[in-house]
Amino acid sequence: MEIHIVTDAAEGAQAVADVFARTLQETAEAGTVLGLATGSSPVPAYTELIRRHREEGLSFAGARAFLLDEYVGLSAGHEQSYHRFIRENFTAHVDIDDAAVLSPDGSTADPAAEAAAYDRRISEAGGVDLQILGIGSNGHIAFNEPSSSLASRTRVVGLTRRTIADNARFFENPEDVPVRALSQGLGTIREARRIVLTATGEGKAEAVAQLVEGPISARWPATSLQLHPEVTVVVDEAAASRLELADYYRHTRRLEQAGSVTPHS
Ligand code: GLP
Repeated sequence: MEIHIVTDAAEGAQAVADVFARTLQETAEAGTVLGLATGSSPVPAYTELIRRHREEGLSFAGARAFLLDEYVGLSAGHEQSYHRFIRENFTAHVDIDDAAVLSPDGSTADPAAEAAAYDRRISEAGGVDLQILGIGSNGHIAFNEPSSSLASRTRVVGLTRRTIADNARFFENPEDVPVRALSQGLGTIREARRIVLTATGEGKAEAVAQLVEGPISARWPATSLQLHPEVTVVVDEAAASRLELADYYRHTRRLEQAGSVTPHS
């Protein structure tokens, strides 16, 4: 893993946007496939990508995108649907074709069939070139809660009380938070060719420490990313505060920047 400890959200947004720009440049000819995440963590990076699109000509033309997850029971147009969130916060403001931004259909009558079909659609598109991720305070990625199989595929999941409580801030009443979601699985996510995970704040410090330094375990689903060859973790000082080897990561980062070690070793 490549660990970037940044001073603030703005520096983190630059680091994440740089990974997007590099991936777009490398894969545009074949048609970039992006994996997009919702939640508040990626928003500064999306804002920076929108700025680069408007001011520097960064283009998403020809790209396709797959969202990680969607609440079961919410229609695409629902205020809190992830379908809507990604458009409002990112894709409607860049030159990606709206029809090429896909997410699981939360309002389907058959969520299990929708999950399997969604997983297939990702493979049929040739897989994801770059997946951006946030992390839940309990170590979930997408909606893979603790106890998720490390080999899991897109499926219907029940949300933990902690996740429901964490996400209640987006809803008028805590009872309105859906209790199930359609989520890409840990196995599905790990098939992305490149992954960048971003987190800020003390509330994520334990999950980040487990992700980077903990034993691989379904108790902390994000630890499954240790099995992936190209993961960049962008965290601020607060989210990095429980990393035992933070000094080593800073040192390695300086060596990478100087070109004297290769990232992702
Ligand atoms: C939700 C999403 C995750 C996201 C997590 C953290 O549970 N399904 O993809 O990483 O929230 O959200 P935030 O970035 O707002 O803390």
